[in-house]
Amino acid sequence: MSGSVSEARQWGRLMELAEIGAIVGDRPEDRGVNRPCLSAGDRQARRLMIGWARAIGCAVSVDAAANLFFRREGSDPSLAPVLTGSHMDSQPQGGRFDGIWGVVAGLEALCALHDAGVATRRAIELVAWTNEEGGRFRPGCTGSMSWSGHTKPAAFDGILDPDGVRYGDALAEQLAAEADIPRRALGGPGGVVPHAYVEAHIEQGPILEAEGLDIGVVSGIQGSRWFTVTLTGATAHAGTAPLRGRRDAVQDMVRAITALNALTADASDTLRFTVARIEVAPNTSNSVANRVRFTIDLRHPDAAVLREKGDAIEATIRDAVAHCGVAVEENFHAMPVVFDPLVTGAVAAAAAAEGLRHRALPSGAFHDAQFVVPICPTGMIFVPSRGGISHNPAEYSTPGQLAAGARVLVRSLASLAG
Ligand code: GLV
Ligand code: MN
Ligand code: MN
Repeated sequence: MSGSVSEARQWGRLMELAEIGAIVGDRPEDRGVNRPCLSAGDRQARRLMIGWARAIGCAVSVDAAANLFFRREGSDPSLAPVLTGSHMDSQPQGGRFDGIWGVVAGLEALCALHDAGVATRRAIELVAWTNEEGGRFRPGCTGSMSWSGHTKPAAFDGILDPDGVRYGDALAEQLAAEADIPRRALGGPGGVVPHAYVEAHIEQGPILEAEGLDIGVVSGIQGSRWFTVTLTGATAHAGTAPLRGRRDAVQDMVRAITALNALTADASDTLRFTVARIEVAPNTSNSVANRVRFTIDLRHPDAAVLREKGDAIEATIRDAVAHCGVAVEENFHAMPVVFDPLVTGAVAAAAAAEGLRHRALPSGAFHDAQFVVPICPTGMIFVPSRGGISHNPAEYSTPGQLAAGARVLVRSLASLAG
C-alpha cells in the first residue's frame, strides 16, 4: 500500500496549506508561513484538512484542548487505535514543513490505505495537536500536555499572547467555531490510550542531508526548560541622569546574559542555551529602561545536566545583576525521553522494506511525541531538511523526500495496526 502514496497529492496539499499565512523570508525565493495556533488561519487550515479527511470516510472529532482527530476505522473497533500526527501551527517566521508535514503525511498514509483498499485490524487516528510551537502562546505543546494529563488544561487559560489575548479565550473561540464537530474526551489516563504513537516530522537539523540518508529513526528527544526573567529597575532621563545612580534594566540584562553564558558554556557543544525574546520598557531611546523581560530556552539530552543548569539560573542572575530586582519564572519543562522499540523497530523495518538509507538519531527539537511517551509506545520518523534549516522561511525538504517519509509512515502504521 506504500505504492499508493502520491507524491503530487501530498506536495499539492502542503503547498495549498502554505498559502494560509504565507510570508516571504530574507531572500525573495524563501517562502515561509506565519500561522499562529487558535487563529483564523489555523481554523481555515483545519477546515481544509477536515474536507480532505471526510472525502475518504474519516470520522472527525475535537477535544477540549482543540486537538483535532481523524479516525479511519479498523476491522476490530474494540482495539486501541494507532495514533499518528503532529501540529499545524507555525513559528511567526516559520517554514512550510515544520509540524504540518506530519499531519499531511498522516493524511497521505490514510489516503494510501484507502486507495489500496487495505483494512487494518486497529483503527488509525490522525491528530493535529494544538499549539506545539509556543510562538503565540508560551509554552508550546499545550495540546499534547492537556491530552496526556501532564498538565491540567485550565492551567493554560491565563497565558497571554503578545496582543494580550488570553489562551482560554482563544481556545473557547476556536471550539465555538468548530461546534459542528463531534466532541471527544481528552486522552491519557481516563481517556483513549492508543496502542502506539508515531509522529512524522522534518529533521530540522543537518545530519541526514550531510550523511546522504533518507530517513531518521528517531531514538528520543532531549529535554527542554523555558524560563521568563523580569528585571526591574527605574527609568530616568538619558541625558541628565548620571550613570552612577542608574538602575538600568538593559545593563543588568547584559550582565545576566554574560553570567548565563558562563554557566552554560559547554566545550562539547551539546547544551543549547538561547535568549531570543526581549521586551524593554519604556522602550524609548532617550529613557533608561526600567524593566526588561527576556526568555531562556535551555536544552540538554541528560536530565541531570538539565536539572543542575536550570536550577542554577536564578541564583546566577541574582549574583550577576548590579541594581535591579529579579524575578524568574519557569514556564515549561519537558524531560528527555527515549522512544519505545515497538515503534522504532517498526519504523526501521519500514525504511528497510522501502529500500531507504536510514539511521537512528536523537531529536534536538521538542515535539508533542515527548508528552505521549508516558501514555503509550512512541516514536518518530525524520526526513532530511535542506541545510538543516528550520524555524526559518528557507526551511525545505523535496517532494521526493517527503513522499519517502510518507511511505515509511504508512508501512509503520500498517504494521502497528495489524
Ligand atoms: C519546537 O518547535 C522546538 O522549539 O523545539
Ligand atoms: Mn514541529
Ligand atoms: Mn517548531
